[in-house]
Amino acid sequence: MHPMLSIAVKAARRAGNIINRGARELDLLTVTTKGPKDFVSEVDRQAEGAIVETLLDAYPDHAILAEEGTAKGANADAENVWIIDPLDGTTNFLHGFPQYCVSIALAHRGQVTQGVIYDPVRNDLFTSSRGRGAFLNERRIRVSRRQHLRDCLIGTGFPFRDGAYLETYLRMMKTMIEQTAGLRRPGAAALDLAYVAAGFYDGFWEVGLNPWDVAAGSLLVQESGGLIGDMGGEGNFLHGGQVIAANPRIFAQMVTALAPFRDELTRQRPPRPAHPSAG
Ligand code: IPD
Ligand code: CA
Ligand code: CA
Repeated sequence: MHPMLSIAVKAARRAGNIINRGARELDLLTVTTKGPKDFVSEVDRQAEGAIVETLLDAYPDHAILAEEGTAKGANADAENVWIIDPLDGTTNFLHGFPQYCVSIALAHRGQVTQGVIYDPVRNDLFTSSRGRGAFLNERRIRVSRRQHLRDCLIGTGFPFRDGAYLETYLRMMKTMIEQTAGLRRPGAAALDLAYVAAGFYDGFWEVGLNPWDVAAGSLLVQESGGLIGDMGGEGNFLHGGQVIAANPRIFAQMVTALAPFRDELTRQRPPRPAHPSAG
């Protein structure tokens, strides 16, 4: 395993232990609100602290861009930036719904080169280094081989926080429900992307995501033979907020199926302001 990936795995497992401990004592957690329907617990913050400490112990010069506010030198010129969601799926976590994960990626000169997604409930570890494939618990994973959208199981996330995009989303979901074998909305975008990489889903799309939701999962998808892009199928998926990910055949079919919604999505404001240092 690449040394940087193994440090990221160590950090993700430390965070996972903190999350699992918190899950056993949900009633005792202090929860605060960041915005409408946007909660954060001490577990999110402690997990982020443990990840950042582990990474910076090993690589003191690296920059950090993390959801709960740790921003260290993460500007556009930074050579190495760790992009971190310490707990993706916080709403699920707070309800005891067992679908959430830790997501850690390293971007080298703007390109994601290492990625870890860790599901502490199932002890599932998804890892990838650029050029070396994608793995689930050390077994190679690949995207699904389905060829027709009508046969596909597709994942998504929808805007539940301030309702931006909601009307458009309802119509997008109608289109996808009609054109696929099934639609799922589990509630942790990073894990959704890992599921595309593992072939559990044939594809996924969401609008209004942040870089820490997408970074590690994007590498997993690419290294498992899939494609990831924005709603136009183009390359601005990391900072642009819009993501379609799928096996190559289904990717093209999803871009076509969702094309009628592209313009109106672009006209609407994003549901969450990007992290101050994300640009
Ligand atoms: C959220 C989850 C959710 C997605 C939201 C994300 P958080 O992340 O990934 O599935 O629909 O867009 O913000 O806030 O739980 O880390
Ligand atoms: Ca997230
Ligand atoms: Ca989070």
